[in-house]
Amino acid sequence: MLEIRSLSVTFTQPNSEPLLALGPLSFDIPPGQFVCLVGPSGCGKSTLVNVIAGLQTPTTGCVRLEGTTMRGPSPRVGLMFQNATLMPWRTVRDNVALPLELAGAGRAQRMEAVDALLEMLGLTDFANAYPGGLSGGMAQRVALGRVLSQKPHLLLLDEPFGALDALTREQVSFDLLRAWRREQQTVLMVTHDITEATLLADRVLVMSRRPGQIIANIPVTIRRPRHPEDAFTPDFSETAREVRAAINRA
Ligand SMILES: Nc1ncnc2c1ncn2[C@@H]1O[C@H](COP(=O)(O)OP(=O)(O)O)[C@@H](O)[C@H]1O
Ligand SMILES: [Mg+2]
Repeated sequence: MLEIRSLSVTFTQPNSEPLLALGPLSFDIPPGQFVCLVGPSGCGKSTLVNVIAGLQTPTTGCVRLEGTTMRGPSPRVGLMFQNATLMPWRTVRDNVALPLELAGAGRAQRMEAVDALLEMLGLTDFANAYPGGLSGGMAQRVALGRVLSQKPHLLLLDEPFGALDALTREQVSFDLLRAWRREQQTVLMVTHDITEATLLADRVLVMSRRPGQIIANIPVTIRRPRHPEDAFTPDFSETAREVRAAINRA
């Protein structure tokens, strides 16, 4: 589904040495797989996400999505960051509906799709609220609803829950898992949280220090559907320990 080949990014700025920020690295993600990416701060994770999203041109190598080389942003790729960047003058419903509006969907079709998303994310009671009054967790749910309404084939998440407290984070990440089970998008999620990565992913990729390369590829075999309590099982501890060891080597 996603093929990354010999990808590297070098930043050049006036009056300073070129900075090799990322790679070279190669990896594949098969359709429908949920992959988490962890690595030290500054190793190039966001740069990698930006390249896959078509927002940054790679210096070497390429990204192929469903067999075609990416040459810029695509509606098949959905992107979500740590801050929700909602539109404060639009209600929750209208924020979630935005990608459908931009794609030219009719009002009835929009409302049906949006209401289903609001329901799934526990936002129905907040449909007519404005973002200014929402908690951090609710705002991230709206951002998640907005990116899901686009029906992306590939969902890119860059530390999406990094600013939330631990319990809220767990709730929103399990909302994400439910959405993923329903739609079976391919997911690449950056996180610095080993527990989160192990609980959510089919596979955890670990990156080295800058310039980030893939130094470990750890399958997670915990049965689905997953539950927060899975974090107390021996299987989980074993896998999380492996991820931790790889990060220590990074
Ligand atoms: N636009 C840019 N220009 C120059 N350097 C950049 C730019 N974006 C990121 N960098 C540098 O590239 C490295 C990787 O950054 P980033 O991808 O944000 O890392 P991470 O997300 O893993 O913390 C860092 O050293 C960062 O300072
Ligand atoms: Mg980052």
